[in-house]
Amino acid sequence: MATPHLQGEKGDYAPVVLMPGDPLRAKFIAENYLENVQCVNKIRGMLGYTGTYQGIPVSVQGSGMGQPSIGIYSYELYHFFDVQSIIRIGTAGGIAPEVKLRDIILGQASCTNSNFAMQYQLQGIYSPIASFKLLKSAFDTAQELNLPVHVGNLFSSDMFYDDSNSLEQWTKMHVLGIEMESGALYMNAMRAGKEALCICTVSDCPLKHEFTSAEERQTGFTDMMKLALETVKKL
Ligand code: HPA
Repeated sequence: MATPHLQGEKGDYAPVVLMPGDPLRAKFIAENYLENVQCVNKIRGMLGYTGTYQGIPVSVQGSGMGQPSIGIYSYELYHFFDVQSIIRIGTAGGIAPEVKLRDIILGQASCTNSNFAMQYQLQGIYSPIASFKLLKSAFDTAQELNLPVHVGNLFSSDMFYDDSNSLEQWTKMHVLGIEMESGALYMNAMRAGKEALCICTVSDCPLKHEFTSAEERQTGFTDMMKLALETVKKL
């Protein structure tokens, strides 16, 4: 059954979906890492593909930027396409002092300034967390591949251009990186009884005014892809 945003039928997506923000990244991954690839979504240009990685069925679906966008796609994948696990593969700004350009952050949990959790009408502040199964598998894989990995809190912000300059405050609570999607993804996974993990490569360190070049971002992305795909193999 197609949804308002995904044109596929049930069974068109694998149980595990990798989600880059950029749909052209989804295309790149499908064309360079997967075999037997089929394009399963083109609505709004938010490309999605299903194929196999070393014989294991895997899908890649663009999420767009921000929590409202990944909120829509992850909800539809979990609830209407029987997807069990979503691994976001994206970039983050490193904000903790020990986090360097091109390091990888595994988002154990996600702080947010978003109102996404309001819909659940909880009498307190919810703590969105990653799937321990996915987190453990990704951490073990990163160790095996000798990749520079940090595990901890992300700050999932609704603002890229933020007038409040709040990053120093988040670092006081030892938040490792800022990105814009993990909060809604983790909440949708928890509400659906499913699994999610956010893997981020550090594209910039805003507090140190450090930025990667396009070429460095590509290398970082390749390492993260390998990590995500090898993590899937272990599940
Ligand atoms: N802010 C928000 N999202 C990001 C950043 C950032 O500095 N870097 C990569 N994703």
